[in-house]
Order: sequence, then structure tokens, then C-alpha cells
Amino acid sequence: MSLHAMTPPFLRSHELLILGIETSCDETAASIVEDGKHIKSNVVSTQINIHKKFGGVVPELASRAHTELISHVICEALEEAGCKLSEIDAVAVTNTPGLANALLVGTETAKALSFSLSIPLIAVNHIHAHLYANFMEHSNIICPVVGLIISGGHTAVFYMENCNNYVLLGQTYDDAAGEALDKVAKMLKLDYPGGPEISKRAEKGSSKAINFPRAFLGKDIYNFSFSGMKTAVARHVERNFSGNSTDINNICASFQQSVIDVLIKKIINAAEQKSVKTILIGGGVTANTELRKQLSEICKEKDMNLFSPSLNLCTDNAAMIAGLAYHKYKKKNFADISMDIHPQLKV
Ligand code: KG4
Ligand code: ZN
Repeated sequence: MSLHAMTPPFLRSHELLILGIETSCDETAASIVEDGKHIKSNVVSTQINIHKKFGGVVPELASRAHTELISHVICEALEEAGCKLSEIDAVAVTNTPGLANALLVGTETAKALSFSLSIPLIAVNHIHAHLYANFMEHSNIICPVVGLIISGGHTAVFYMENCNNYVLLGQTYDDAAGEALDKVAKMLKLDYPGGPEISKRAEKGSSKAINFPRAFLGKDIYNFSFSGMKTAVARHVERNFSGNSTDINNICASFQQSVIDVLIKKIINAAEQKSVKTILIGGGVTANTELRKQLSEICKEKDMNLFSPSLNLCTDNAAMIAGLAYHKYKKKNFADISMDIHPQLKV
């Protein structure tokens, strides 16, 4: 039992204070969240500079960096929140999906804290947490909803009856949307991560310059495939690429549009099939301005409500982990020292 848990309720201004830890990919993050919503601190140490020269995340370097950074990041999160470890009621950590050795750094740290402080340990699904980020910022979400996760590692559609219930409807067969953007950026010798670079270049190009294919997959309405679309860009680059900036801008704008078209069609279809009027989006690619703009226009036309997190909650962070963990705490859905990692998203 933590010292904090022993404090009489009338002396506490809140119900629960949860420490969230996130190390599933290339961001080492820790956050303190009060009652599932109020972010007291949200510290993210990005490894972009480590992976940049390789044009993608190198798993071994990622786990090594997480090991070096994790204690500092947790201390900073506590300091920023103005609280002591003894005041924390539970520790939550991403245990799925992600890079195996990267996940292990977070889960082993969380187990050690849970054991030494005698506080509950909570396992959180990173993808669910990306969608939950919406509930931390918007109090007017009416469930059920459909949610679209678009990140560097995952592209998936969920049906949700409430903020604690996630039914996977479909996901990508191959590359994630962000991964495809990152790989196309690499072909064009743009910086890593490629998504923001493509987005910047696309603003100066024409989305109609090249008609790249869209994988809508016929009757397979909930799943995605971006690998063929990415290969079409590779073929185009091999045959027609001059290397000048107009060419680069046009490829970026045209490819970005093909990805946006697929994402929009799939999530609108899902909302219509499930007869829901509300769409949530989450994950790093949600930061894409053109996607937000086009999706919000179509939602307006269709009289649907669209919610997205603010930019610092779109990309990887630990606030969303601590936030979702609050609801697991309320259900006493605790893990223990034998908690495993699951690098793949479980269907
Ligand atoms: O969710 P996230 O931070 O990490 C994963 O869980 O993968 O997503 C990272 C992905 C990367 O592929 C990155 O290129 C993409 O999000 N991204 C963007 C933008 N900002 C980040 N893609 C398109 N436009 C952006 N502005
Ligand atoms: Zn993510």
C-alpha cells in the first residue's frame, strides 16, 4: 500500500494519481495523470536523432537508448508534476504492441516500481491508448464510436462501445500508413521521420500530378494495404524521377493524397456500416494537416462528429497510457510481476 493510498480521502484533491511509462518504439516517455484526464506532466524524449541517419528505427539502438533514458525521464515527469514517488497510486506501462526489446525496458521498469512501492501494475495497449487520448481532451464524445489508428507501426479500425472497450474491425496486411510515408520519404532522400517531411513538401506540390493507385480492396472494407501503393511510387521514381524539387513536391502531394483517400474511405465506411455518428482518430499520422482538413470536411457533409487529439497527444506519449490505465484501475484490472510483452497487436 502506498503512503498516498493511506492518506484520508478528505485530504486528497483527487482520486488517483497514475505514473504512465511508454517505450514501445523510439520515444522514451513518462507522465503523471490525475483521474484519467488531468495531465500533471508529460515528458517525451525522442530518439529521432539516433535513428535519422538510418532512415528508420533501429530496434537495438532504440532499446539501448530507452535503458539509458528511462530513469531520467521518470524523474523529470515526477518533478514537473510536483509529486513524489510515494504519492503515486499505480504504475501503468505499454506492454503491446511494439518492438520487443523496447517494450521490455518499460515493462521491467514498471514491474520494479510496482514491486518496490507496493502499488498496482497496469498493462496498457498502446493502440487503444492512442484512441483514448481523445477522451482526455474532449468531454462531449458520445459512444459508440469508430476509431482509426494511423501510426508508424499500425493502421487499424476499431469499434468502441465506450472508452474502455475496443473491438478490432480491421488492420493493415502489410505496411502501416506512417511506415509507407516514411519509406516513400526515404526513396526521395527526405529526412526521417518522413510523414512530416512529405506533408511539408505536399503543400507546394499538386496532388493530381501523378495518379498513384489506391488499395480499397473491394469487399474487404475494414482492412488496409499500403505496400503496393508504396511500390508504385518506387516504380515511378525509377522511371520518371528527375530529382528536382517540383518533382519531389508533386510525388509527395500525390502519394499523400492516395493515402488520405484510402484512410478516409475506410473510416467513413466503418462508421456507416456500424451506424455510428462519431469518429475518433489517433496516432502520429493524425498530425497530418491535410488529412485532418479533408476528413473534417467529409464528416461535416455527412453530419458526423470527428474528434482528434491535440498534436502532443497524437504522437507517442505516456499521458495516454496513464489516462487509459485509470479505467483499468477502476475495474481492478491489474497485472502482476509475470506480465508479458506482446510485440504483435492481438486480434
Ligand atoms: O504514433 P507514432 O508517434 O509512433 C508509432 O506508434 O508508430 O507515429 C509515428 C508516425 C511516423 O510514421 C511519422 O512519419 C508519422 O507518424 N507522422 C506524420 C506526421 N507527423 C508524424 N505523418 C504525416 N504527417 C505528419 N504531420
Ligand atoms: Zn504510437
